[in-house]
Amino acid sequence: MSVLFAPLDVGDFTIANRIGMSAMARNRADATRVPNHIMKKYYLQRALGGAGLIVTEATSISPHGSLYDRTPGIWSMEQVAGWKRITNVVHLAGSKIYCQLWHAGRLANSEGPLAGPFLPEQGKAVFLIFQSLSNTELRLTFKTHLQPTEIQDPAVFVDLYRDAARNAKLAGFDGVERELLHAANGFLVDQFLDSTSNVRTDKWGGSIENRARFGLEVLKALVEVFGSNVSVKVTPGRGYNDMKMPLEEDTVETFNYLLSEADKLRLSYITLSRYIPDLEDHKIGAGSSTTHDVLSAYTKLITNAKIFLDGGVTPKEAEELVKAGKVDGVFFGMSWLTHPDLAKRIRHGKRTENTAVIAHLYGDANVEPYLGYTDYPSVTY
Ligand SMILES: Cc1cc2nc3c(=O)[nH]c(=O)nc-3n(C[C@H](O)[C@H](O)[C@H](O)COP(=O)(O)O)c2cc1C
Repeated sequence: MSVLFAPLDVGDFTIANRIGMSAMARNRADATRVPNHIMKKYYLQRALGGAGLIVTEATSISPHGSLYDRTPGIWSMEQVAGWKRITNVVHLAGSKIYCQLWHAGRLANSEGPLAGPFLPEQGKAVFLIFQSLSNTELRLTFKTHLQPTEIQDPAVFVDLYRDAARNAKLAGFDGVERELLHAANGFLVDQFLDSTSNVRTDKWGGSIENRARFGLEVLKALVEVFGSNVSVKVTPGRGYNDMKMPLEEDTVETFNYLLSEADKLRLSYITLSRYIPDLEDHKIGAGSSTTHDVLSAYTKLITNAKIFLDGGVTPKEAEELVKAGKVDGVFFGMSWLTHPDLAKRIRHGKRTENTAVIAHLYGDANVEPYLGYTDYPSVTY
């Protein structure tokens, strides 16, 4: 049997295989950001399709942290109840599920209830609206945000992450993943980390230690709630949303420090996400990718947490990397999106030939939500 199907201890749980499903925003929640029936179906399909570990789409920790329309939240009890229905069925199907906690920071949507304050603006803060034009065309409209203002006390936002983790626990999640992502996608934690977006002169800005402080404090708050069932995903090579930290002077050193410190917190796993050229299409601001080999740069720093690789991984590469002991597991993103039964397909040597309906990646209020969401076919086994 393929090494990909050997069980793996991750935090307090054992996952059935090494095949995870990456966080993917799909914009199908209710208008009040409550997870709904169609989302339950979508996650259940993938749990039944054999995903060892599912990470939810980015889920807002507070009403002022959301960016796109109809992405879910986890600050209200209605949202907790919606997620509970999803974690229940995922568990019944034999998978584990982590909630990816998210605050968009200076990118948050000005049309929502904005309760700032945000970091001082360096780049252009904008809001993306997705609209399906046809089966193959997706229109992105950019809307300018309100001028972000400085966060007076970042510790307040650390508390928001802690509260969201408590809600995630109530909702039955097995753990929480913190997005960090230099810079898929330049969100709040990343805005603190990046040497170009963070212009603070207090203990939350300046040196590497200070810029990493917010992210590490958030991780500690999550560990208070979830113990070792906490993870972090980093994307040191991806320029996005106007993150511009240069590779040589800053990126590698910053991530060396951050990952070494994060690993001391006894996290369940750390995901190293690679640079993906396709995701550059949505990039806002000047080109800022810092492409480098994240496995050779960072795995040596991670001795406690399990290591997962994400970003353009193929089943063949996954098999080789796990067999060689270079990673413990892998995440697939787009392949899960188009194949609800991806892990089963890999196990049974079936083809992975479905292609994505690009127009429906992020839904559209005027289009049936199931299109390009729960209608991708499984094979018959
Ligand atoms: C439609 C879509 C939505 C995404 N949303 C998120 C997200 O909410 N959080 C996140 O960390 N990454 C997000 N990503 C990135 C994926 O988690 C993953 O890192 C990326 O797709 C690379 O994996 P792949 O090459 O296997 O698709 C998204 C990707 C796609 C295609």
